[in-house]
Amino acid sequence: MTEVIIAPNPASAAQLVAEIVITQLEAHPSTVLGIATGSSPMQAYLAVGDRAQARSLDLTGVRGFGLDEYVGLPSDHPAMYRNVVRREIEPAMRLLPDSIEMPDATLGTLADAGDRYEAKISKAGGIDLQILGIGTNGHIGFNEPGSSLSSRTRVKTLAEPTRLANRRFFGGHETVPIHCVTQGIGTILDARRVILIATGAAKARSIHLALEGPVSAANPASALQLHGNAIAVVDVAAAGDLRHREYYQFAWSNKPKWQRPHPGPVASIDS
Ligand code: F6R
Repeated sequence: MTEVIIAPNPASAAQLVAEIVITQLEAHPSTVLGIATGSSPMQAYLAVGDRAQARSLDLTGVRGFGLDEYVGLPSDHPAMYRNVVRREIEPAMRLLPDSIEMPDATLGTLADAGDRYEAKISKAGGIDLQILGIGTNGHIGFNEPGSSLSSRTRVKTLAEPTRLANRRFFGGHETVPIHCVTQGIGTILDARRVILIATGAAKARSIHLALEGPVSAANPASALQLHGNAIAVVDVAAAGDLRHREYYQFAWSNKPKWQRPHPGPVASIDS
């Protein structure tokens, strides 16, 4: 992990993430984003859309790839990530409809679903900026504990803590799918830059283990320590278990002006 930014509250964490994303989109209109669903990045996505509108940015060249998808849901299921992206995320960010590609997790097409998705990401030139949340069990994407640190997009079995956490989108635990298609940890590490956002005390332990624990398949997010251009934006509650939080705050408050809003856009395929 190259940088840990501790924001006073979830709203300012969202604004920080939005500023990093919008700086990238402004400099590179053909940016390829990696998109997490779930609650953590939603405020940041809305703030990206607001900033794009305020600056009259043309985002029609921006494309994205979702991190993961549930297997076997009917195509009109409201919790299907493809539908969440179309209904909530693309409008929030003011991206073109259908500009975010999602893994195909249709039953009967799963054998090569991972390879097909990897080929699409490759053809797009790779992911410039991957936005991530983190599970209370340390997952990134749906790479549950034990996932290979070099894994690629594939079918995975969801862990029970994940199914329990996500039952809020399904109206009950029993109806949460058991399988998913997720970008692998190796796929995530290939992104040119990664931003992880986490808020709330429930994420404090997984954030500590991700940023300060040993790099281990038992804590999938710890693989981000191997990425040379990764930023974690957390609020004070999610930072609660960090041993070195004073240092992170000191480094952030002494950040040279020329590096802000840090760390400038990454080279994209349009550069
Ligand atoms: C979602 C995803 C997951 C979530 C994680 C946190 O596409 O890949 O890793 O980011 O489960 O979810 P929230 O943000 O809802 O707490």
